[in-house]
Amino acid sequence: MEQYINQAVEQFRSILTEQIARERRMEQEKRTTDYAKLDKIIIGICGGDGIGPIISAESKRLLQFLLKEEIAAGKIELRTIEGLTIENRIAHNQAIPDDVLAEIKACNVILKAPTTTLKGGTLESANVAMRRELDLYANVRPVAVPELGIDWTFFRENTEGEYVLGSRGVEIPDTLAFDFKVTTNEGTRRIARAAFEYAKNNGKTNVAIVTKANIMKKTDGKFSELCHEVAKDYPGITAEDWYIDIMTANLVNERTRANFQVFVLPNLYGDIITDEAAQIQGGVGTAGSANIGDVYAMFEAIHGSAPRMIETGRGKFANPTSMFKATEMMLRHIGFTEKANQLDKALRICTVTEKSLVITGRDDGATCSEFGDYLMKTIENF
Ligand code: IPM
Ligand code: MG
Repeated sequence: MEQYINQAVEQFRSILTEQIARERRMEQEKRTTDYAKLDKIIIGICGGDGIGPIISAESKRLLQFLLKEEIAAGKIELRTIEGLTIENRIAHNQAIPDDVLAEIKACNVILKAPTTTLKGGTLESANVAMRRELDLYANVRPVAVPELGIDWTFFRENTEGEYVLGSRGVEIPDTLAFDFKVTTNEGTRRIARAAFEYAKNNGKTNVAIVTKANIMKKTDGKFSELCHEVAKDYPGITAEDWYIDIMTANLVNERTRANFQVFVLPNLYGDIITDEAAQIQGGVGTAGSANIGDVYAMFEAIHGSAPRMIETGRGKFANPTSMFKATEMMLRHIGFTEKANQLDKALRICTVTEKSLVITGRDDGATCSEFGDYLMKTIENF
């Protein structure tokens, strides 16, 4: 037992040193990308696993359609990145194999299809690794249901909390297991600033700071405190403290939920509550997710790779809506606001108001590429 304890203490020392260094780096790193100043924007498209290659190929087709002139003029390059598959990741025993990561880093923005995340074991999730490697600290997830007055934007902290050491816990065999949750000063301030900046620039008056600071006193306590500190720089915006448990209830409280506007929250709570919010909008298949850093940004569907659809031969009926939503968010981020608005409008027509083609995930519904055609036709007719 003594030996296990010593090993664990050693591991904790190295983790602590490494996390202190990470916080210091964050404070010093001041690089940013100004997309308007780039001669060419390189968009990397990662196919992923399961239905990933099918829905990302459809997004590529959509981008080729929307950015035809920019691609022809050499202002935009679409680059397909292979190798972010579970087979290749297992073969290299790396969450993102080195050569794939180098290709990703040579792009300016990434559109990423779902990748399989293994339960247990030590192979880390490709999402989590990419968020960390590209320092994508703000996970921005909008959810809108105009008929119900719902217009929410979630700012989920994306590089620390329960995730940063999620694959590096400690186990004393047959006895116990420990995981770590890390909240740093700079890590919290930057996600808080992102949320409050968004609120300010989009006419929002309220930011909900969602934690469980009554129980996770150190980490969530710090998160809440620093968010309030940042809030002082935004006088017109009210910062409210909420606990995550009651907030999950609030989202299904039809009387009051439309009052919420912007949410800022630690990683794991953000993961959970954004699936709940997406369900209110029509399911995780309808929601996109932006992973924003100062240098890079990555856009993805919020759902998984749906391996069962492939196993049962239903891959071609996969729903690309969430990837299209991610595509819209990417276009907005790199400055193509008009095209993003068109895509948003067309998505609403094709999935809510007109719905001439419906995707069911089975052969009684449209295929992924039939839906892609329908969406592009809709845009052509504007
Ligand atoms: C998400 C997903 C990921 C997460 C998984 C696939 C690692 O659930 O993007 O919300 O937990 O962040
Ligand atoms: Mg999730």
